Amino acid sequence: MASGKKKVSVIGAGNVGATVAFHVAQQGYADVVVLDLPDDLTLERPRKTGSMAQGKALDLNQVSPIVGYDGRVTGTSDYAHTANSDVVVITSGRPRTPGMSREDLLAVNADIVESVAKQAAAHSPEAVYIVVSNPLDAMCHVALKATGLPSARVIGQAGVLDSTRYRNYIAAAVGVSVEDVQAYVLGGHGDQMVPVRSLTTVGGIPVQKWVELGKLTGEQLQKIEDDTRQGGGILTGLIGTSAWYAPGVATAEMVEAVLLDRKRILACTVLLDGQYGVNGLYFGVPTLLGAGGAEAVYDLMKLAPLTEAELAGIKESALKVQGTVDSLKALGKL
Ligand code: NAI
Ligand code: 2OP
Repeated sequence: MASGKKKVSVIGAGNVGATVAFHVAQQGYADVVVLDLPDDLTLERPRKTGSMAQGKALDLNQVSPIVGYDGRVTGTSDYAHTANSDVVVITSGRPRTPGMSREDLLAVNADIVESVAKQAAAHSPEAVYIVVSNPLDAMCHVALKATGLPSARVIGQAGVLDSTRYRNYIAAAVGVSVEDVQAYVLGGHGDQMVPVRSLTTVGGIPVQKWVELGKLTGEQLQKIEDDTRQGGGILTGLIGTSAWYAPGVATAEMVEAVLLDRKRILACTVLLDGQYGVNGLYFGVPTLLGAGGAEAVYDLMKLAPLTEAELAGIKESALKVQGTVDSLKALGKL
């Protein structure tokens, strides 16, 4: 029997996908479908009695009496089970391994994202699509083309993750609650991303003032920004594959904003149309996120006094994303 709840499908039941599914299911407002390959050929595990997605779904259902959620999780490799989703999250694809850049995943993940986005859109043409697979900005272009949907409904997750990493480092350095650090990291999801120091506040006070108060040094703040930019690589170096808790929960925060029409202003990867001096490129910017997907984009170049360094950083990051998109075109994927 249909539950009457909203429906979220997560394509790719790997580390990030399963974390998104768990966090969304825990909120109790949606049924969740996790879809992965029918036969997990990419995993060198002994064959089992069914698919990995089925197993993860069963595990997620079995934790629900303890955690206390009623939403049902279905594991499948059949896109028919994803039909009429309100949100589709795309996490299928290869993750980074140590020494690899996100761009090294371009060709292999373009094929995967193209294929899954096309199949998902055939069953859920009204959904909002949130892309997570890397290289993120380029994969948004692939998903936009493959789904044929309006760009407001094809967006990417990167900035929520990059911003939470920045916020966490600052809170630890200043010695305050993470809840009281507000910050945006903008631009492409690569090492040229831009932590916007001039708009970062701790308890409503600009972070630069905390440096003047001696609560953190300029060198510490610079290292925090460098570590934020290198965030994915640092974790991959430690874990051996890319991270999943913060990426998964960051994605779930975007899912919630859409499902509950919360009108959150989050750093999302969206297709720009002249804002920030960028045209026709997916890029991470503050976005009004609601039931319609990306409902508005805020151009901080016009609305905030960004510093010269931040403006230069945005330009550099946009050039880097453009380079990756050009490589995608050379591969015949756009
Ligand atoms: P993972 O290897 O744990 O999971 C990926 C899953 O995709 C696997 O289970 C695999 O079988 C599945 N898959 C591959 N091809 C498929 C297809 N055609 N149809 C259905 N499923 C398919 O990888 P993980 O760690 O979950 O990462 C997933 C992606 O997310 C990677 O590309 C990674 O780089 C990216 N990522 C992006 C972040 C972001 O902030 N945007 C953060 C962290 C990871
Ligand atoms: C991350 O930033 C690799 O994009 C992935 O953790």
